[in-house]
Amino acid sequence: MSAKEKTVEYEGDGVTVLWKPHLCIHSEYCVNGLPEVFKPKERRWIQTEHASAEAIIKQVKQCPSGALGYKTEGMSESNQNKGSTQLTVLENGPLMCEGPITIKKPDGSTEEKAKAAFCRCGASSNKPFCDGSHSKIDFKG
Ligand code: SF4
Ligand code: FES
Repeated sequence: MSAKEKTVEYEGDGVTVLWKPHLCIHSEYCVNGLPEVFKPKERRWIQTEHASAEAIIKQVKQCPSGALGYKTEGMSESNQNKGSTQLTVLENGPLMCEGPITIKKPDGSTEEKAKAAFCRCGASSNKPFCDGSHSKIDFKG
């Protein structure tokens, strides 16, 4: 894992939110869905004390890219979605994939994921994943 592929933990009462900044595509589902917890303009941008564990988990599960995950006492969950895999092409944006997914990399290594957003515009600095750059280059397609 490279330094930029870090996971930051935000501990709360009954749930700890896991945040992988390199996977965030800045869709802001979290910010719009639970603004009292997800505050991108503040220094500690995830404030778990402002909502119940249940509400936070519900919101975390809606993160389309897998940047958000959570763990609770005795179990760990990273946005797991068991069952078939679904691909969705977002207009002017990434290819969303809801897993389970196994990614085989050019160096031969593999990575297991529950969900991911793959770059279609070519501008991401974190390929094969989307990093939100499609908005900056005004990607159409
Ligand atoms: S990708 Fe996930 S973490 Fe990033 S803004 Fe969207 S919902 Fe929030
Ligand atoms: S599709 Fe999002 S960075 Fe390329």
